[in-house]
Amino acid sequence: MIKNDIEKVLISEQQLSDIIDSLAERITNDYKDSERKLVFVVILKGSIPFATELMKRITLPLEIEVMKVSSYGSGTVSGGNVKIVLDIDRPDISSCDFLIIEDIIDSGNTLSYLTGYLMHKGAKSVRTCTLLDKPSRRVVDFVPDYTGIEIPDEFVVGYGLDYDERYRALP
Ligand code: IMP
Ligand code: MG
Repeated sequence: MIKNDIEKVLISEQQLSDIIDSLAERITNDYKDSERKLVFVVILKGSIPFATELMKRITLPLEIEVMKVSSYGSGTVSGGNVKIVLDIDRPDISSCDFLIIEDIIDSGNTLSYLTGYLMHKGAKSVRTCTLLDKPSRRVVDFVPDYTGIEIPDEFVVGYGLDYDERYRALP
């Protein structure tokens, strides 16, 4: 039984839903007057459930891209070296507002690297949205534009988050 592996429920389904409602409202409000294309950059694989729920609640036109990164680490340790495994490829980068969607920010390496990467590619704007934030673990100085909820330094799984690829499908 998968449930026997789980110590406790940190955030309930209802809480997640409420958090995502308020993020969607903020994002909709912040981008409603932009004339550029709003492009979600969904970071595979952990952000899939979060991005899917979030996009349905944003009442603006938006496009979807995916990226995949690996950060030379396994299990509960993430490394500092971010490598892009799947990149976005579109000719109109300079006319897009990118919003990177992450499941969790830990050291900050991934989001800080990706933000710089997309800006370097010529993006008009790059912001970041993370469902979970473990601020006590930060290694690089990075504050996401949209944070769902801050959590203590505990290893969490479910709702997209994995431990060696397991538990992503937990609600
Ligand atoms: P960062 O680059 O250290 O900020 O790490 C971000 C990535 O580390 C996330 O996209 C997750 O894949 C992974 N990660 C960090 N903390 C956890 C956790 O508690 N559970 C599952 N994955 C985590
Ligand atoms: Mg991951």
